[in-house]
Amino acid sequence: MIYFNHPHISASDRDYLAEAIIGGHTSGNGKFTQRVEEKIRSTTGTVRTLLTTSCTHALEMSALLCDLKPGDEVIVPSYTFVSTASAFALYGAVPVFVDSRSDTLNINPSLVEAAITPRTRALCVVHYGGVACEMDALMKIADRHGLVLVKDNAHGLFAKYKSQYLGTFGALATQSFHETKNLTCGEGGALLVNDEKLVERAEILREKGTDRGRFLRGQVDKYTWVDIGSSWVLSDLLAAILWGQLQRAGVINARRIAIWKRYHLCPTSNVNTVVCKSIAEHPIGMLRRLRFRVTLNTDNRLMSNTSMTREFTQCTDAFGWTLDDFQWITVNSVKSAFAQFEERLRLINEVVKPRYATLRSQGLSAS
Ligand SMILES: Cc1ncc(COP(=O)(O)O)c(C=O)c1O
Repeated sequence: MIYFNHPHISASDRDYLAEAIIGGHTSGNGKFTQRVEEKIRSTTGTVRTLLTTSCTHALEMSALLCDLKPGDEVIVPSYTFVSTASAFALYGAVPVFVDSRSDTLNINPSLVEAAITPRTRALCVVHYGGVACEMDALMKIADRHGLVLVKDNAHGLFAKYKSQYLGTFGALATQSFHETKNLTCGEGGALLVNDEKLVERAEILREKGTDRGRFLRGQVDKYTWVDIGSSWVLSDLLAAILWGQLQRAGVINARRIAIWKRYHLCPTSNVNTVVCKSIAEHPIGMLRRLRFRVTLNTDNRLMSNTSMTREFTQCTDAFGWTLDDFQWITVNSVKSAFAQFEERLRLINEVVKPRYATLRSQGLSAS
């Protein structure tokens, strides 16, 4: 049975969870929440990261931060999960769907401007499967028309576009830690706020419309109701699991890549979905070419330096890959190609040749 998804849970996740339970701080804003928020904030370079109860809720907070009035329009991609549109519709906005590119499955920037009307307030794009949208073009459009740019980055934590983390473009971005995502705590999410002016209101919205955040920082002696809002703070128990996951983010993502490669690179694989085709245009698609080159050049001339440099430059320029990423991929592609080659040689020497020899000695044909 092939599972749709299999969360990568380790003993350390359980240890952190136990620590949170024993510590007694089981509601939100505890030490694990602070650690996770700070880790994501400092890694990505966003102004403020707020853990939330889900990505859907982070999108709802975004809708409120956009100050939408009933009848305002929000542009969303035609291909996405329901929350990208429903979070805005919940607050009275009209989702306007713009068609997606068939290769990346992301919103097609060349179709966005035709959908903008005087009522358009925001543009919410999705980096589907962690594959970056064309942010240069989309940011220009948002700037030209004064739209708030929201990124539903549910799938793309720590992925990059031109060396910049996906969550840091535009004013707001949302993450999901649902069971199906690479890093998970069962159910959970985050709002990444990149606009200093929105930080305080985002904190208030998440705390049921109160200024509890100021109270916790000792800025006021009691907290009161100051705005609308809801209960969107993540429990510290879930943040503890997430802290464990974050420690292994590199390992978990590498494992995901390895599994993806097994499907994508297998010549007999019938898993040849649009998603795979779209990724093939991205640097990971280089793997296919690397593998063929490696397989052909088994005399140790693996790659010419020029093609290596050209492909590495493409990866770093377009997708922000580091030398480490590229080396990891290259080394593993080379290893797997050689492993297959050696296995084939072994079969020929140990099974096929002796069988032919036996057949010949018996005067029989090999058919
Ligand atoms: C693109 C996208 N946005 C939002 C969500 C909602 O995430 P959550 O379950 O954390 O609310 C999902 C869930 O899969 C998703 O794929």
